[in-house]
Amino acid sequence: MRVLVTGHNGYIGPVMLRVLQAAGHDCVGLDTDYFVGCEFEAARAPCPELKVDIRDVEPKHLEGFDAIVHLAALSNDPMGDINDDWTYDINLRATIKLAEYAKAAGVKRFVYASSCSIYGSSGIAGFVDETAPFAPLTAYAISKVKCEEALAALAGPGFSPTYMRNATAFGASPRLRVDIVLNNLCAWAVTTGKINIMSDGSPWRPVVHIEDISRAVAAVLAAPVEVVHDQGFNVGLNSENYQVRDIAGFVRAVVPEAEVTYAGGNNPDPRSYRVSFDKYAKAFPDFPLTWTVAAGARELVDAYRAHGLTLDEFQGRRYIRLKQIKHLIDTGLVDDSLRWTK
Ligand SMILES: NC(=O)c1ccc[n+]([C@@H]2O[C@H](COP(=O)([O-])OP(=O)(O)OC[C@H]3O[C@@H](n4cnc5c(N)ncnc54)[C@H](O)[C@@H]3O)[C@@H](O)[C@H]2O)c1
Repeated sequence: MRVLVTGHNGYIGPVMLRVLQAAGHDCVGLDTDYFVGCEFEAARAPCPELKVDIRDVEPKHLEGFDAIVHLAALSNDPMGDINDDWTYDINLRATIKLAEYAKAAGVKRFVYASSCSIYGSSGIAGFVDETAPFAPLTAYAISKVKCEEALAALAGPGFSPTYMRNATAFGASPRLRVDIVLNNLCAWAVTTGKINIMSDGSPWRPVVHIEDISRAVAAVLAAPVEVVHDQGFNVGLNSENYQVRDIAGFVRAVVPEAEVTYAGGNNPDPRSYRVSFDKYAKAFPDFPLTWTVAAGARELVDAYRAHGLTLDEFQGRRYIRLKQIKHLIDTGLVDDSLRWTK
């Protein structure tokens, strides 16, 4: 398929391109590139790209594509805390416009990067599946719920949206992030010898490797349309639902000299849920997800050590979305609507 991958220059994007290209897809990237220069690894799969803000996409950009994989977003909860409207503008309104143009241009499949954070504080004691009620807690999670609803309203003959409800991601990437739980705890261990948990360690958090997130998209693109038309899939593995303190244990298994410390007190992040990934496993038996937290901790620690990750680099702006966006604002590189000034 000819596939447009938005947000290809973010954390998941470079790995998504590699996996989709390996599956034989002809990919083009589209990104405004807020993280230009924020490299962890220089090597990237070459890919033609459009430097376009998702809010400024025009129908002509979408002609000739069979599918859109839509990753571009302000992609975490704290970002919504600085200015909700940026999140609604970029994540919600621009996504709806993109999907409307895609449908008009005859793009048949629209694979949307949603999130398990739509389940929020579900209040459900067991595992939440795709039929669970949404309980979004932040502008980010609300934007994901509203996008799914808007895309469902556009679904019809010739336009098949699919909602990938990804667990919290982990794994090494050319555009690393250290503001997500496993990547963060591994970075603390390697740079300080302490595995700093910013809560009491009790919240449940399903986690999934970015290569498995990408593999799941490859599965959707390969599936008959009736399997994926207007469907949501939780993306992850049942076995990889952990409390944050268990995740710290996997890091300690790789860095045994590191000590686990707890900031304790209130959990800064009230999300806590366990997720069932049965629907994905049943729908796509030929595309099993395989990455465990144990393997991910090993991969990350090895990658950080090979890179020589320092505490300054870990705490700097390069791998932390919020800090990089604040830097772009403070230096006047973007204006107050987050558009480049030059
Ligand atoms: N990382 C996770 O844990 C996780 C979990 C669930 C879902 N997701 C979703 O997956 C997608 C990708 O996540 P990520 O971790 O790679 O995010 P990221 O923040 O690392 O990358 C997002 C990319 O989108 C681009 N972008 C942002 N606003 C844009 C705009 N206005 N126009 C064009 N490009 C723009 C950025 O420049 C960046 O390259 C997001 O939609 C995110 O919500 C991520």
